[in-house]
Amino acid sequence: MSTPTPPRTFHVKSFGCQMNVYDGERMAELLAAQGMTAADARDEADLVVLNTCHIREKATEKVYSDIGRLRRDDGTSPLIAVAGCVAQAEGEEIMARAPAVKVVVGPQAYHRLPDMVAQAAAGKRATETDMPAEAKFAALPKRRRSGPSAFLTVQEGCDKFCTYCVVPYTRGAEISRPFADLVEEAKLLAAGGAREITLLGQNVNAWEGEDDKGRAVGLDGLIRALATDPDLARIRYTTSHPNDMTEGLIAAHGEVDKLMPFLHLPVQAGNDRVLRAMNRSHTVESYLKVLERVRAARPDIALSGDFIVGFPGETQQEFEDTLRLVDAVGYAQAFSFKYSARPGTPAATMPDHVPAAVMDERLRLLQDALNRDQHAFNAASVGRTCDVLVERRGRHEGQWLGKSPWLQSVHFTGEAQIGDLVRVELVEAGPNSLAGKVLAKVAA
Ligand code: 5AD
Ligand code: SF4
Repeated sequence: MSTPTPPRTFHVKSFGCQMNVYDGERMAELLAAQGMTAADARDEADLVVLNTCHIREKATEKVYSDIGRLRRDDGTSPLIAVAGCVAQAEGEEIMARAPAVKVVVGPQAYHRLPDMVAQAAAGKRATETDMPAEAKFAALPKRRRSGPSAFLTVQEGCDKFCTYCVVPYTRGAEISRPFADLVEEAKLLAAGGAREITLLGQNVNAWEGEDDKGRAVGLDGLIRALATDPDLARIRYTTSHPNDMTEGLIAAHGEVDKLMPFLHLPVQAGNDRVLRAMNRSHTVESYLKVLERVRAARPDIALSGDFIVGFPGETQQEFEDTLRLVDAVGYAQAFSFKYSARPGTPAATMPDHVPAAVMDERLRLLQDALNRDQHAFNAASVGRTCDVLVERRGRHEGQWLGKSPWLQSVHFTGEAQIGDLVRVELVEAGPNSLAGKVLAKVAA
């Protein structure tokens, strides 16, 4: 026997990027609006939604091992829905490979999840991987409650077609959500408890729209509008493309106090031949120029990036150029990955794939350098005084965890509540976090 029909409890598990986290939250809100109850553990849920990531092979394979693990000791299994980018890329094939899956729903179609679950509960499998650009957001329930730090997807999809990347195929063409909808959603999030909003998009700095006066604006215009909301204390955005760092956005870093001094700007590699083969459409020099301008506007900005080692044909010398770039920039933090061939992307059929052992070694060297710089950045922060947005309790009695303006994790003890902005002095640095000493609570 299987679970009750229709399902009464659900559990949404998101993998991968922050946009998936956002989508997962919205799916949960959608199911709750149908009268279903969220279960903390997937063992207790009648419906389990796996909100998947397709960016690297490992992430994709994880879905299938997870599906296997959903089978319970008593032989039953929940109703399983696969959402996200694996759903988009593999569609009905998922059901052929994993018959326990009854619903497959892509990232642009999840507003239809309740109908599809009802259909599956009635015994008929459901697949939806259409990519209508706009329908989804309008069909979702309005935002209500939020933690102190909230995500807001403002832009989806990608037109850049980097040769290694599946995103243009799984998330489709670039679309920007309308200005008014975003201002409204941000207001609801702030009213529901958010003090910080991170604007999300695969190419978030390519966002464009028309403001309330009908003027064409870019992401900086949206940021300036959101900054006028007195309930919001902090604004961030991620992920950006170097070529979309406009003058206006760079200037906003110097002019908008609520825009936090942090920029995630992926470069991927530090060699121009590799960047060309990746179709990145920027060079090492043009990337460094952008960083120089951002630093001129906001000297204390913390920089972050993404890197891929072992792109097909990457030589040892070319890889070492990446290490040189890392040395030149001094990242506050960064993400680094081994190249993973994705079916259907141009790079997958390029010659000279780099052996796994070589990729392992390059990743180790790169991560050593990035960790060294992250630790150095944290160490250089000691002695600084800054506001920390309290996000949750720490592991120790009376301890709180939050984020500095530079997105460092900071722990401290003292009087505080979740959602407070607390002024602290940073007193000790570790590789991944800092200890703070409370000076005062910041007035709302
Ligand atoms: N292999 C390895 N890393 C990848 N990324 C995207 N596609 C691949 C791939 N095929 C990385 C890039 C991107 C981040 C989200 O994931 O660094 O910026
Ligand atoms: Fe992928 Fe490149 Fe688009 Fe980023 S810019 S989502 S890496 S294609």
